[in-house]
Amino acid sequence: MLKIVVLNGPNLNMLGIREPGVYGTETLAEIEAALLSQASELGVELDFFQSNHEGALIDRIHSAFGNADGFLINPGALTHYSYALRDAFSTVALPVVEVHLSNIHKREAFRHTSVIAPVAVGQIAGFGGQSYELGLTALVRKLQQDRNTA
Ligand code: DQA
Repeated sequence: MLKIVVLNGPNLNMLGIREPGVYGTETLAEIEAALLSQASELGVELDFFQSNHEGALIDRIHSAFGNADGFLINPGALTHYSYALRDAFSTVALPVVEVHLSNIHKREAFRHTSVIAPVAVGQIAGFGGQSYELGLTALVRKLQQDRNTA
C-alpha cells in the first residue's frame, strides 16, 4: 500500500482561528479527517505531522527515507525561504506535492516565490482545504503511474 506523509508547517495548527478571511474556518483536524476518508477510498496510507519548527519538519522528511512513497506538504511561510526544507526533499528524493489554502500568487509579493516548487511535482493553491484533497489525488496518481512504468 502506498504510504504518504502529510506535512504541515508553522502556524497551520491554528487553522480555524488564524485569519479566517484568508484561510477559512476549517481546522487542521477537519482537513486531516477529510484526507483520511479520501485515503481509504484511494487505498493509501497517510501519516500526519505538523510542526512550527523547521528542524522538526526536516527530521520527519529524513525519517521517511525508505519508509514512505511521497509527501503532501503545506510548508506555510517556510515555502518562501526555507532552502533547508527544499534540500531535505532533494536529499530523500521522493515525490512531493506542495499545497496552499490561499492563492499565494495573488497575495503579497513575498508569497509569490516558492523555494519548494522547483523540487515538487507540482503545486496547488487557492482552494482552501480542498487544495489538500486535490493534491492527494494528484500525488497518488503520479505514484501509481511511476509504479506502473517502473
Ligand atoms: C499558506 C500561505 C503562506 O504564505 C503562509 O505563510 C501560510 C499558509 C497557505 O496555505 O495559503 O502559513 O501556506
